[in-house]
Amino acid sequence: MQKVRKAVIPAAGLGTRFLPATKAMAKEMMPVVDTPSIQYVVEEAIKSGIEEILIVTGKGKNAIEDHFDANITLENNLREKGKDALLEKVKATNIPSIHYVRQAYPKGLGDAILQAAPFVGNEPFVVLLGDDIMPNDVPLTKQLMEIYDKYGKGSIATIRIPEDKSNRFGVIDMDGALGEHLHLIDHLVEKPSPEEAPSNLGIVGRYLLTPEIFEILREQAPDSGGEVQLTDALETLNQISPLIAYEYTGKRYDVGDKYGMLIANIEFGLDHPETDEKMKTFIKELATKLKEN
Ligand code: UTP
Repeated sequence: MQKVRKAVIPAAGLGTRFLPATKAMAKEMMPVVDTPSIQYVVEEAIKSGIEEILIVTGKGKNAIEDHFDANITLENNLREKGKDALLEKVKATNIPSIHYVRQAYPKGLGDAILQAAPFVGNEPFVVLLGDDIMPNDVPLTKQLMEIYDKYGKGSIATIRIPEDKSNRFGVIDMDGALGEHLHLIDHLVEKPSPEEAPSNLGIVGRYLLTPEIFEILREQAPDSGGEVQLTDALETLNQISPLIAYEYTGKRYDVGDKYGMLIANIEFGLDHPETDEKMKTFIKELATKLKEN
């Protein structure tokens, strides 16, 4: 069995849900407290034992490369001022093992992943989307890697979704169980209405894929909106090489969406040593005010 060593992080989307913030700034650089959302995802990959990471970027995304590169001027400045803790924080984000490729046009998630074909070669690999921050003692990516080690199959991370939210997810039509929280897949439906949804198991942003996906993506026609959809390619891959739907039950923050981003900032702020006490006091006072109104 081949070892899973590589991760692909697509980050070339337009981030229209955060306009105007994303007019001149990468949505992946938007912070949760003091850390850009993409850093959480890179850290998850590294913590899972991934050795090489490729970030798919595009126009206006240079800050992502700068963020994971050394900033000598800043480091010297912090050193001279004796700000050692900050210096260590900054240096921890210098990650030379990250590679970059550009997606020329934002033609969909499937097209973004296709740009990773030369980097991935003929190996199984993981895909992590920066829109989902999923803190867990055993990172979700590592859990997918363990499933691959055990069953030799690719997998898709899923969560139980509220019925009325099915039109925001790819939804799994299950074909029986393989084990606890492991489901076989009959087929996948992209963003069905609640009436059409075959289950309440929705796809979230972690995948372990086998390299057959690239041939499928190359052949696949774009949808009516001109985007190459990953869900359609997964549907085809599942026919050739069955995938497992893994039901993740840990925490998830959808930071690709305004509301999810606000929630993440509140919860991470409640957990941050510099803000926890002040946040608690503020939220308690706010709750009292809201109750009064
Ligand atoms: P999203 O659906 O969140 O798209 O893509 P988006 O464009 O970033 O955001 P909105 O919906 O316009 O606000 C999921 C992931 O796929 C990447 C995005 O960067 C995000 O991480 N993506 C999407 C690409 O890399 N290229 C694309 O063409 C589309």
